[in-house]
Amino acid sequence: DIALDPLEGTTICAKNQPNSLAVIAIAERGKLRYAPDVYMNKIAIGPGYPKGVVDIDASPTENLNAVAKAKGCKVSEISTCIMDRSRHADLIAEVRAAGAAIRLIGDGDVAGIIHTTEPDETGIDLYMGIGGAPEGVLAAAALRCTGGQMQGRLILDTDEKRERAARMGVDNPEKAYTMEEMASGDVLFAATGVTDGNMLKGVKFKDGIIETHTVVMRSSTGTVRWIDAGHADTSKF
Ligand code: FBP
Repeated sequence: DIALDPLEGTTICAKNQPNSLAVIAIAERGKLRYAPDVYMNKIAIGPGYPKGVVDIDASPTENLNAVAKAKGCKVSEISTCIMDRSRHADLIAEVRAAGAAIRLIGDGDVAGIIHTTEPDETGIDLYMGIGGAPEGVLAAAALRCTGGQMQGRLILDTDEKRERAARMGVDNPEKAYTMEEMASGDVLFAATGVTDGNMLKGVKFKDGIIETHTVVMRSSTGTVRWIDAGHADTSKF
């Protein structure tokens, strides 16, 4: 199975803002959840937490308290990444009331979720909110390789969406998928920075060379490779 988004964060790229990516996930046949193009409610944390510390059915406050307790810090020291959307007004208000910090992002929740895996570098501990379902599967594939936890529930709020999802094998529209149910087996994930970001440098056009920065990860070995590449612009040869 192959899941890919050649430009995750088209608006970010168009505005030359941080964290647009080219991403791909590869797994054995049948091991990546075939996600319909609908929204998905997502929650994700990075590695190092006991299993089940967050729960998509718990309230944001409960999840923040659980993450803070597991991390051994105060809720005010937890930073949550949320997409800046009006649909998240209640979520944002509750997280603020709980005292946690919020990183509002304009787009690009694959990066937002991956950023939970390196909280010291990115300043993000927890991701919550609604974004694209295909992006959810890509993020789950990345977390399978780095460690971390994620759950996602498709938002199938019309008959048309429920029927479309059913044709793609979704027999229970209410189901909350675990990370492993979205991406199982031996998963390979790669992301190349398009614009500069918290973890990846963006594409640089230099004299005759195009520089890219890529991370390639594999779940079965846990290997994470960072690749700085120079691609010759042969048209200038
Ligand atoms: P595109 O690259 O397809 O524009 O997706 C960007 C993105 O921000 C995703 O990261 C996110 O999952 C989705 O759009 C959110 O959708 P919406 O913009 O409708 O809230």
